[in-house]
Amino acid sequence: MITKKIELLLSNVLKKLEIEKENIKVIPSNRKDLCDYQFDGTFELARLLHESPLEIGNKILEELKKEENFNQYFKKVEVLPPGFINFTLSDEIINETINEMATKEKFISELPEPKKIIIDYGGPNIAKPLHVGHLRSAIVGESIKRILKYMGHQVIADVHLGDYGLQIGQVIYGLKERNIKIEEMTLKDLEEIYPLISARCKEDEKVKDECAEITKKLQENNVEYHQYFEKIKELSGEDIKRIYKYLGVSFDLWQGESDAYPYIDKVTKELEDKNLLKESEGAKVVYIGKEEDPKEIPPLVYQKGNGAYLYGTTDLATIYERREKYHPDSIIYITDYRQSLHFNSVFRVCEKLGYKEIKLEHLGLGTVNGKDGKPFKTRAGNSPKLDSLFKEVKSYFIESNEKNESMSEKDLDIIVNAIIKFADLQNNREKDYIFDIEKFSKVIGKTGPYILYTYLRIDSILKKEQFSIAKLNNTIYDKEDHDLRLKILELESTLNYAAEERLPSVLANFLYELCVNMNAFYEKNHINTLSEIEKKENWLYLFQISNQILKKMLELLGIEIPERM
Ligand code: ARG
Repeated sequence: MITKKIELLLSNVLKKLEIEKENIKVIPSNRKDLCDYQFDGTFELARLLHESPLEIGNKILEELKKEENFNQYFKKVEVLPPGFINFTLSDEIINETINEMATKEKFISELPEPKKIIIDYGGPNIAKPLHVGHLRSAIVGESIKRILKYMGHQVIADVHLGDYGLQIGQVIYGLKERNIKIEEMTLKDLEEIYPLISARCKEDEKVKDECAEITKKLQENNVEYHQYFEKIKELSGEDIKRIYKYLGVSFDLWQGESDAYPYIDKVTKELEDKNLLKESEGAKVVYIGKEEDPKEIPPLVYQKGNGAYLYGTTDLATIYERREKYHPDSIIYITDYRQSLHFNSVFRVCEKLGYKEIKLEHLGLGTVNGKDGKPFKTRAGNSPKLDSLFKEVKSYFIESNEKNESMSEKDLDIIVNAIIKFADLQNNREKDYIFDIEKFSKVIGKTGPYILYTYLRIDSILKKEQFSIAKLNNTIYDKEDHDLRLKILELESTLNYAAEERLPSVLANFLYELCVNMNAFYEKNHINTLSEIEKKENWLYLFQISNQILKKMLELLGIEIPERM
């Protein structure tokens, strides 16, 4: 990796200058007009050594020039006020590094320390329809999973169904009220009943209490309620699996809250042994506040007065189970950001229990909004069911261009996926964004169709043209060519950063920029009609690498490539 190469060189130089610094970071420049890469560590060194960043920069540069491979690496290195070191790479090192990348199956180096990571995403609730919030968790989670696997980590994906909460009691109440027998129950019944009873619970204490009682009895293994539960889980589960299949989202484990029940007693015992379980207004709670908290953090409610367990309880029991069965280094949870207090509370209880070996992370997601700035709804109705979203995007894409009408159904579904996923993944996951079907369906702009179109365009050239080289020569022919090669070099640091920060948006934006570079190159240099053979072959080879990278990285975003569009 190019940054590693420069970092190594810098660390040599610093050693010679007897300056101690770990973690030397060279990053792609954000001013490509000035240089290709930059080092900003001079500012930190200045504070340590009580010298100006500019002085330190110059010292480093003087020493760097004495290094053997200075001229092989750089066309130019300068120190600019207030103290940045700016590197412009030589053509030789650019091409050498790309040639090296091309020999690796994944284009990047092996990870020194792979970790075992459980990733908990999707999180649909049975008996309740999946909504856009769940869609985002599925898209972002799937991409993070794929990126981490690609980097070499061992990843276990768990859907963690919400399957033992109050909504089940509510649905069973509604089914019984309507006299619907277990064998007659349909998905439609569930979809109708849940919103009705959930609304009635808000108005009618009696209904609410009865639903809570059913939920508790279910948790205590009441036979009749359990039969209802199994059937609800079956019907709902089929529907959830169908939607995930459409989205290309897959899980290693289809566990849910209910599977954690056998572990609750073990957690209770640990909590009791450590004297952490306290009575509060009839309920059992764990106090988790810390002195340094700016605002008081309420205790985690572990068991309600009526004996029922809650969301926090099942999450604690699930962590217990995961530690026992899989010994993960970390667990990553991906949900709407409004659950951050919940996860923070659960994590604090784990801290009190002394689960130190495991890193727990909650990634909170921003909201998907409509053009009106309110949470996104489809035209079809107020509950933004995912099927109607898929349909709406598909019909919009077909209407937007006559050519699209003749596309195969399979390709259209691939495009629907690309539109929705790229719209989402290009945004930092913590931020809200506006889902604008019109904008995200266009073939021009930062959209899924643009990326796919770029791939297919280059692919069709590569299919028509023959070339025999398997290595770039040492020439870079023009600016567009140079920009494209530099972008390719950024792949490894992009992937590292995206994986470490769990930010698929970094990869999505890299892909967009790569496509912009590929298109600019293509439009300037009409490769097909070029008569200079060596140049043409080098460029075709460069295109081949670019497209291979594009394809592999699209896979990491969960985006497939259509036959044609
Ligand atoms: N079912 C939850 C919801 O709909 C998400 C579950 C997330 N995972 C977890 N282990 N709590 O919001």
